[in-house]
Amino acid sequence: MTNLIEIKGVTHAYQTKAGPLPVLDGLDVSVPEGEFCAVVGPSGCGKSTLTRLVAGLMKPDAGEVWLHGERVTSPRKTVGMAFQNPVLLEWRTILENVILPLEIVAPSMPRAQRVDRAEALLDMVGLSGFESKRPSELSGGMRQRASLCRAIVHKPDVLIMDEPFGALDNFTREDLWQTMRDLRAKEPFTAVLITHDLRESVFLGDQVVVLSGRPARTQYILDVTLPEDRTIDVLYTPQAAEMLHDLRDQIKIAQGRPVEETS
Ligand SMILES: Nc1ncnc2c1ncn2[C@@H]1O[C@H](COP(=O)(O)OP(=O)(O)O)[C@@H](O)[C@H]1O
Ligand SMILES: [Mg+2]
Repeated sequence: MTNLIEIKGVTHAYQTKAGPLPVLDGLDVSVPEGEFCAVVGPSGCGKSTLTRLVAGLMKPDAGEVWLHGERVTSPRKTVGMAFQNPVLLEWRTILENVILPLEIVAPSMPRAQRVDRAEALLDMVGLSGFESKRPSELSGGMRQRASLCRAIVHKPDVLIMDEPFGALDNFTREDLWQTMRDLRAKEPFTAVLITHDLRESVFLGDQVVVLSGRPARTQYILDVTLPEDRTIDVLYTPQAAEMLHDLRDQIKIAQGRPVEETS
């Protein structure tokens, strides 16, 4: 399998008044085409910085970012992004918000085709009937569903999500996890998800990358060996419990805290 995303030895420091702040230190991450990569790590370790580098919004001081066999050196239109706060335009309807990337990336696509594509995605995430609503008329979870549709409407090479479910309550979040898996089953895409929720990383991920404390290195990679057609119940199985325990220990190590012996 070819790696769609290849991050090799990426090192970056921000220039601050107090001097350089090293944030990433020789980071390596590989994501095969069609895989879902969840990234966890201590707060402030450089996760959001990593998303900006993959999207080409920033250049690393050293190392390389490759996407689909091309070196990333400038902002990429073929990347879809979703954030904790869905950035939907209030003066546009939900349908028009979802269509927006197509207007930019595929200006020659006929209007009817754009509408069909957006409506099909909205239907897949359970937003059929809400196409003509404004963002403020929807709940937080529904807005996040709409923003996911917008992030993948133009079939980007990769969907990059920076803590997209962080502001939602627990039940809404679990619904969204399931929607995300259902969506991927119908509409395969490669994804990088930044999260601080270990259950989320295991439920959604094919692999979970644990970053060390700042400056971040790749500390640990967990291969998630849960069934492909998982439902939330899978999180209550012994296999999932073992993975969550493993990740929790790794986060403690990343934070420089002691890991107690359990066996
Ligand atoms: N533009 C910037 N200029 C200076 N420092 C920054 C900038 N962006 C982020 N930082 C700092 O870099 C570190 C990593 O930030 P970030 O990538 O947002 O971490 P995370 O997403 O893991 O919490 C933090 O200490 C943050 O304060
Ligand atoms: Mg962040």
